[in-house]
Amino acid sequence: MPATSHDPSDDVWAVVVAAGSGQRFGGAKQFADLAGERILDRSVAACRSVCGGVVVVLSADVLGTPDAEVPGADAVVAGGATRSESVRRGLAAVPASAELVLVHDAARPLATPAVCARVVDALRAGATAVVPAVPVTDTVRTVAGEVLDRSQLRAVQTPQGFRRAALEAAHATEADATDDAGLMERLGEQVAMVDGDPDNLKITGPSDLAVAGALLALRDRSAAGATGAGD
Ligand code: CTP
Ligand code: MG
Repeated sequence: MPATSHDPSDDVWAVVVAAGSGQRFGGAKQFADLAGERILDRSVAACRSVCGGVVVVLSADVLGTPDAEVPGADAVVAGGATRSESVRRGLAAVPASAELVLVHDAARPLATPAVCARVVDALRAGATAVVPAVPVTDTVRTVAGEVLDRSQLRAVQTPQGFRRAALEAAHATEADATDDAGLMERLGEQVAMVDGDPDNLKITGPSDLAVAGALLALRDRSAAGATGAGD
């Protein structure tokens, strides 16, 4: 039986970028504990739900230390000075058999298998680049004072999905971007959107860790309610 996107599939690999220094957090947030599991390990597990393999990108100075032991990682490689450079280095370690690649920020430990599956489904349906996105809840103004029409705006998350060849071509330009889909769009590729998850927050500052812990507790409580467990 052919694999569906909901089974881990060998033609899809993930690059989980975790080589940042966490300046705004005040340290290497990817190794921080979130409800008994490291942020990085949670992000890798989310990708594993749909991917045949996962490449983890870490800063060179943690390679060979216990921090670099990552359950579920097939390869651990050294990153670069920018996120884009880290993605490039991770991509270089993805086997040629993987035609589809997810790029995921280790800093988003609450990504769900459902979001990952939506991204893979859109790639399998023919998209070249796919981003999970959510409506913007704040009113947004430009610094010049223009209030933007919120209904036309979306906040973009990871994992983002790509046809590997197109992502490699985008990264061959050595350009730098906070977001790989943005890089591809600058080169004229269409970017498809699928529903993200409002709870798929990016751990940026210390308070985000507390919010993520509360969201996980809610998620566990509703899962226990659904199975009738815990009563
Ligand atoms: N990242 C990376 N290599 C870099 C910079 C960032 O792999 N040179 C990764 C981070 O580890 C993170 C993701 O890219 O998982 C998104 O980056 P961000 O949230 O900005 O994390 P940091 O760069 O670590 O944080 P800060 O910008 O506050 O220093
Ligand atoms: Mg950063």
